[in-house]
Amino acid sequence: MPSPWRTLARVAVAEAKSLHSARALLAKHTAVVVRGALASADCARWASGVLGSKDEWTEDFDGDQACLGRAFYTHLETDRTALYFADAAASDARVERHAPGLQDRMRGLIEEAVGGRVVARSGWCGAGVHVFPSGATVASQGGVRHFDTEGLAEEHVTRRAPAVSLVAMLVPAARGGGLRIWPVLYAGRDCVDDSDLPGDGALIAYGAGDVVLFDSYSLHRIERFDGDGPRVSATLHGAEVDAGLWETWF
Ligand SMILES: [Fe+2]
Repeated sequence: MPSPWRTLARVAVAEAKSLHSARALLAKHTAVVVRGALASADCARWASGVLGSKDEWTEDFDGDQACLGRAFYTHLETDRTALYFADAAASDARVERHAPGLQDRMRGLIEEAVGGRVVARSGWCGAGVHVFPSGATVASQGGVRHFDTEGLAEEHVTRRAPAVSLVAMLVPAARGGGLRIWPVLYAGRDCVDDSDLPGDGALIAYGAGDVVLFDSYSLHRIERFDGDGPRVSATLHGAEVDAGLWETWF
């Protein structure tokens, strides 16, 4: 039986010197990596602010992971979207208070990548900072294989209108914790069986300050990791809602 998943010819990761026009590379690559896109001093400052504000983290999945700010997908999956929207402004204020300039920088990186006008989606949160603790589920088992389609409007997904995800690593795991990505594009179902995978995909290892841009319709997951400390990364999603106009959120 033919696979229901639309797959690209092969998995290819582009290493670029900057995110400038990086989205164009996604036509032929599964992901674009820019090493050291964030200055190490900024990463250290933001990481310190995030790790020092534990009292203000949003706990997700019963404390299995946390976020400075709020992530839409965790609230959708746990029936807390009303809380996500009610707290959006305060959530962004918390991120700005503890990691000043990070949200602007993330939006700027998407702007650079897509070459369009980029605005924060009104009433939504973002960017946010994921904290995956050592020894918790993502560390021991890796993240769930998924597509980043949760925040996209249904008609946007139906048209497969452009959407990108940007991950910036602030504190990489001591060992592991990279991004595994497959040349498999969303085809209407969230689950992809092992037997439908066209191989192992590509593994992108992260250093502090590295950023990865990929098509939000691409299948991906976080690899398991070891070490004493948490893995800390910022994420922002973007969707082209009109020609040349992009909205961002997390
Ligand atoms: Fe994702």
